[in-house]
Amino acid sequence: MQHLATQCPPLDVLLDGGLEADAITLVFGEGGSGKTNLALQCAREAVAAGKRVAYVDTEGVSSIRLQQVFGALDAEPVLFFTPYTIEEQERLVSNATRVPDLGLVVVDSINMHYRLAIDGGADGESEAARSLYKQLHHLTGFARQAQVPVLITGQVYGGEDATQPFARRVMEHLVKALVRFEKRPDGTRKATILKHRSIEEGRSARFRIAGHGLEELGVPPPQPL
Ligand SMILES: Nc1ncnc2c1ncn2[C@@H]1O[C@H](COP(=O)(O)OP(=O)(O)O)[C@@H](O)[C@H]1O
Ligand SMILES: [Mg+2]
Repeated sequence: MQHLATQCPPLDVLLDGGLEADAITLVFGEGGSGKTNLALQCAREAVAAGKRVAYVDTEGVSSIRLQQVFGALDAEPVLFFTPYTIEEQERLVSNATRVPDLGLVVVDSINMHYRLAIDGGADGESEAARSLYKQLHHLTGFARQAQVPVLITGQVYGGEDATQPFARRVMEHLVKALVRFEKRPDGTRKATILKHRSIEEGRSARFRIAGHGLEELGVPPPQPL
């Protein structure tokens, strides 16, 4: 079984080596929990392995952050696809999987346009749900056939959010690995396995966000006497 290591040690331990090569990994969490950092870092590792990355970006990733995470490594093998509607997203997700020499496909995030589309009422909602389902179905088949990991992020919106239950049910059904990212009060981040084919639910890891991406927490300073 091939894995794409994230190169964040606690996450690689949590995931028994990293992202599975034949399935979708869905990481969801509130804004700022580290999802895009993870996606950029995994993209870096795929490029370091000599592969290309198809990155479907609905949120407007920062090119400065991309450079920070890539450091000296050339980010040119990362091909960005930027949809502005859920229909366009469905088309671009399909195009993204046709890039040759892929080592990773990213969709960051899967649900922003979904959420906007369902604001259009009942018609918008069933169309959007169908599109979401088709995208996930396509990516599942792609990962399995091409043996290329697929990393999807899901943005969790605070407050009253009626859109999440349905989208989550669809995603949780189709996705093989489900990981929750959380921001802790002390500024560190926590990742918890909610579903996985070969890892027990509830296993968790702590990490933090640093200049070059996600990293393990430092050794705590010695306690004062
Ligand atoms: N150079 C950096 N050094 C440390 N932390 C950073 C740096 N750049 C961004 N961050 C942190 O990354 C966080 C955003 O993470 P991100 O992966 O974009 O979240 P999400 O995609 O889950 O919304 C912010 O808390 C920000 O402070
Ligand atoms: Mg993000």
